Amino acid sequence: MFSVILFLLGLNVSAETFETSPVPSVMTRDVPAMIQLQKPRALSYLLQNISPADTALGVVVASPSKSEPDYYYHWVRDAALVMASVQDRLEKTSESRERQFYEKKLFDFAAFSRRNQLARTLSGFGEPKFFVDGRGFDGPWGRPQNDGPALRALTLIRFAKHLLKDPLNRKYVVEHLYDSKLPTQSAIKADLEYVSHHWRAPSFDLWEEVFGEHFYTHMVQRASLVEGAKLAEMLKDPEAARFYRTEAIKLEAKLKSYWNGRYIGATRTPSENKPSNLDLAVVLGVLHGDTQDGFYSVNSPQVRASVQHLEEAFYNLYRVNRNGQIGIAIGRYPEDTYDGVQTNSLGNPWFLGNHALAEYYYKLAKDSSKKISPLQRAEWMQKGDEFLARSFSHMNQSNGSFSEQFHRTSGYMQGARDLTWSYASFLTATEARQF
Ligand code: NOJ
Ligand code: NOJ
Repeated sequence: MFSVILFLLGLNVSAETFETSPVPSVMTRDVPAMIQLQKPRALSYLLQNISPADTALGVVVASPSKSEPDYYYHWVRDAALVMASVQDRLEKTSESRERQFYEKKLFDFAAFSRRNQLARTLSGFGEPKFFVDGRGFDGPWGRPQNDGPALRALTLIRFAKHLLKDPLNRKYVVEHLYDSKLPTQSAIKADLEYVSHHWRAPSFDLWEEVFGEHFYTHMVQRASLVEGAKLAEMLKDPEAARFYRTEAIKLEAKLKSYWNGRYIGATRTPSENKPSNLDLAVVLGVLHGDTQDGFYSVNSPQVRASVQHLEEAFYNLYRVNRNGQIGIAIGRYPEDTYDGVQTNSLGNPWFLGNHALAEYYYKLAKDSSKKISPLQRAEWMQKGDEFLARSFSHMNQSNGSFSEQFHRTSGYMQGARDLTWSYASFLTATEARQF
């Protein structure tokens, strides 16, 4: 009856996710089939949020939701992460129509990113979000957010490397992406110059709440300089390469100071409202800042310990974790008070949190595969599957949509609907599962 009424009201909830009547609970053995079902749906929802009809080309809206909450903006961070998953698709396809389709999305994103860099905004390169017509958002906000330029560079560096495989693209790359000149007119080099000269400056964290120095921001800044140095070398800009590397090494020293003896803290000076300093941001920093060179890799003891602490904290915090379904529901940080609309409430688990933990365990199984027993490897794969199972249990059961959050007690979806980052993080997690 209850579900019938909700259905008639057209509410985007599925009664099956209600705590007292859980879904035909998703078991880990169902996960491979669920992934097959969910992958095309997630991709199609994600693509709908790239350059929708009433926006400039190259815009990635954070969500189609225009009120409560209004997420109809181009967020630099979200857009870069979403376009990284489009870049994954591009690298995977061998079909030329598909390749052109994804390349077009990335060309548009590159052009819009350059517009963002040149736009007159309140905080310059660290400006966190833009109106969908390309103007800088000029209301009060936590700015600057210095993870943005680093993430944008990381995605565009991958795109540049992909393009350089075809000599016909070289002209475009050296004109628009990396021109080896100072002052530069190109998107990647402009971001790398900003990152290499400003990483010491405090900024707002990826959750847009805390002003300070952050592990996440420093991890992705370092990664952009490491990857940027490789591209600079390819494009005959050796002095820049040397400078980016030197700054990356200084960042490494800084990054080591986040370890508190038990886990990696999110912010250098823990803020009053977040005394635990435990944060999903640390896992995201490891994933998004991965340069395959062993620096804070998924199997480093510090990272392993941090993940352990995070899982325990969320397991104890959310009642939904005791509703009989499999997989721990993961949120942003224990003290979170943002419920998806309001900030004076109680925080919830986030789909992208579960996807990040799944990706983490898949990568752990892969990266350690030479040193570990098949049994250990299977355990980690299973662990990853459990995190995805939890996410499947709370999505809309009839159409596979993900919002931003699901309620910590009832399990209902909550916050911005069709959050683009929820889909991107799902796709990246499933990529990591295949090896
Ligand atoms: C407050 C949230 O805590 C923050 O993460 C979010 O970005 C803003 N509101 C905007 O929705
Ligand atoms: C809130 C999140 O805290 C932030 O990381 C994100 O960029 C925005 N929402 C938009 O999705």
